[in-house]
Amino acid sequence: MEKVVIKDSNYRIRKGKILRTKQLTKLEKLFEIALDGGESLDQEPGQFVMVSIFGVGEAPISVCSSPTKRGSFELCVRDAGKVTGAMHRLEAGDEIGIRGPYGKGFPIRILEGNDLLMVAGGLGIAPLRSLIKYAFDNRRDFGKIHIMLGCKTSDDLLFEDELNQWFKRMDVHYECTVDRAASDWDGHVGQITTLLPGVHLETERTFAIVVGPPVMYKFVLRELIKKNIPENQIILSFERHMKCGMGKCGRCQIQNLYCCQDGPVFNYADIKNMSEAL
Ligand SMILES: Cc1cc2nc3c(=O)[nH]c(=O)nc-3n(C[C@H](O)[C@H](O)[C@H](O)COP(=O)(O)OP(=O)(O)OC[C@H]3O[C@@H](n4cnc5c(N)ncnc54)[C@H](O)[C@@H]3O)c2cc1C
Ligand code: FES
Repeated sequence: MEKVVIKDSNYRIRKGKILRTKQLTKLEKLFEIALDGGESLDQEPGQFVMVSIFGVGEAPISVCSSPTKRGSFELCVRDAGKVTGAMHRLEAGDEIGIRGPYGKGFPIRILEGNDLLMVAGGLGIAPLRSLIKYAFDNRRDFGKIHIMLGCKTSDDLLFEDELNQWFKRMDVHYECTVDRAASDWDGHVGQITTLLPGVHLETERTFAIVVGPPVMYKFVLRELIKKNIPENQIILSFERHMKCGMGKCGRCQIQNLYCCQDGPVFNYADIKNMSEAL
């Protein structure tokens, strides 16, 4: 596997300023951040940064905006504990530390010219949004785009305004499902796997990109394989506990791979025999 080259500037914590925040759901908040001195983050879709909250600690967070957005970038953060909780207490104007970008993102050059089936569960839409936005901004470089989104209830839907726009687009096939419907939900109900049998795909030119909670992968993979998507055309992104984010501490190791450096995006064909990975 090709190693990611980490630039010198990526070892240091860069200072950033929060430009804007938006509470998306009870637990998730969106942060728009600009690096000091107008520095650009230069991330690829699917890469992550280590966010530093001074005096508290660091946490890996995927960049959820596309590199086509210049001047600032966005993070969608779930309040899960110490660092993310402290981050939720920050507002526009506050300072934040950023290391990175790190890891291997989605393989854009390989995806170009092909159809994309993007499958996101829950918070998985955050990293996938960076690719979705990139593909929209470079629409002619990609074939058909299918987006399948699943979450527990409609209260957990992230980026709701954008989802409505995706639904209206003629050049995108977007579907959304919830596990449990409240009275105001008139859309699809069922787990994300229930959306997949109905999608018409030209399998030889389709790449499936799947991001979601660990429990989702096994079931989605089973459906994709049933649909005859070749194993080397299935791309997955993983979350592992991380410390350094750049291949030094071993915290994120899966057998001989470091999730932070060899991933978080992997080709299914490369990891399918690693039971720990899935
Ligand atoms: C590559 C990568 C990308 C990520 N992207 C996002 C993102 O875009 N948005 C987002 O909200 N979260 C994301 N996460 C998860 C996020 O890093 C963790 O929720 C965060 O590190 C928790 O830190 P904390 O100090 O707030 O929680 P802690 O107080 O340390 O722990 C609280 C709980 O979170 C769990 N936890 C800690 N670290 C992780 C981890 N790395 N993955 C999963 N659970 C963890 C702990 O087991 C514990 O149950 C990502 C993780 C990785 C590895
Ligand atoms: S987080 Fe340290 S090696 Fe991956």
